[in-house]
Amino acid sequence: VSKAEDLRQQFAGKPRELLPTPALLVDERRLMGNLQKMAAFFAAGPTRLRPHAKSHKCSTLARLQVEAGAIGITCATVQEAEAMVAGGVRDILIANQVVNDYWLQRLLTLAGKCDLKVAADAEKNLRQLSRAASAAGVELGILVEVNVGMGRCGIDAGPPACALATVAAQLPGLRWRGFMGYEGHVVGIHDRQERFAQCRQAMTLLTQTVDLAREQGLVAEIVSAGGTGTYEAAGRFPGVTEVQAGSYALMDLAYRRVLTDFECALTVLATVISRPTPDRAIGDAGLKSMSTEFGLPEVAGNPGVALRDLSEEHSIFSVAGAHVTLAPGDKVELLPSHGCTTVALHPYLYLMRDGRVHDVWAVDGRGGG
Ligand SMILES: Cc1ncc(COP(=O)(O)O)c(C=O)c1O
Repeated sequence: VSKAEDLRQQFAGKPRELLPTPALLVDERRLMGNLQKMAAFFAAGPTRLRPHAKSHKCSTLARLQVEAGAIGITCATVQEAEAMVAGGVRDILIANQVVNDYWLQRLLTLAGKCDLKVAADAEKNLRQLSRAASAAGVELGILVEVNVGMGRCGIDAGPPACALATVAAQLPGLRWRGFMGYEGHVVGIHDRQERFAQCRQAMTLLTQTVDLAREQGLVAEIVSAGGTGTYEAAGRFPGVTEVQAGSYALMDLAYRRVLTDFECALTVLATVISRPTPDRAIGDAGLKSMSTEFGLPEVAGNPGVALRDLSEEHSIFSVAGAHVTLAPGDKVELLPSHGCTTVALHPYLYLMRDGRVHDVWAVDGRGGG
């Protein structure tokens, strides 16, 4: 019996007050609304949705995305991919370079179990992947990653990317499938027009590369790009075949400031452990259960209570005064500023329906082995 099953038996139907805190909560109605809204956008095609699992690292949630129409799942790590495949997902893109030999061996094991594609941006890595795949007797799908302006991974657009695609297409053990280019420098721009304009510039770099490759006889079957902030601009850009949006499912405060198309479904539940003064209360959720690189989380639904600071295992709340009742044992829900890095701190999430636990899902794609 998995631990998730134990927790399900223990807490299904119970109110949030009975959960061990800090606990990761997902509001089912909001989650489903987000999944349906994104699925509806892509239902008309021709571009398809390949949601990024880095945002939830949860194969149960990924399966719901596929059931709602997603073509497959994007992953950042081999471990995420392993969890998704074990959970029943059959079409995987690892939108990242796999260079470490240990992870490469695990990647090869996965290649026999699903339609697997991995990003590459250097000939040396392609040759390493080719040697390993040939020795293992498997075929690895390859997307050449193009730097579309983010300045993270990715080879330059145009002739350098096409030359790399030629190498990928020729090496044994590899099957070149197309290109990817993630416009991560654009997805968080608050002004929608500016965000979309910059997204189109990035997609132009990507699709010009696709066109150049076609002139050289290399026809890309997959052209993968896009995030939550750009799902419409990338999703309607001619030549892009799939969009890798991830944050839309659970959302967070940082992305809510960029777009309001999706609702914040994710909260961290804290228990008040102390009320030392009328204007201060302390909760048990700290930096070890919520990330802060995009700012402090915010209190949801407790008027007169604001989060002032976090230490490792403490939340420090400012309370408007003695008239605000907040006593040890009371619960506070916090909206994370960044959902992806917050989820990764928790082994399980509690799916909440009308304030009660409806289900418990393992965050099975987390690191740790
Ligand atoms: C390669 C890649 N694709 C897509 C995304 C989209 O994510 P989001 O939905 O958070 O914009 C990310 C986010 O980090 C990413 O790294």
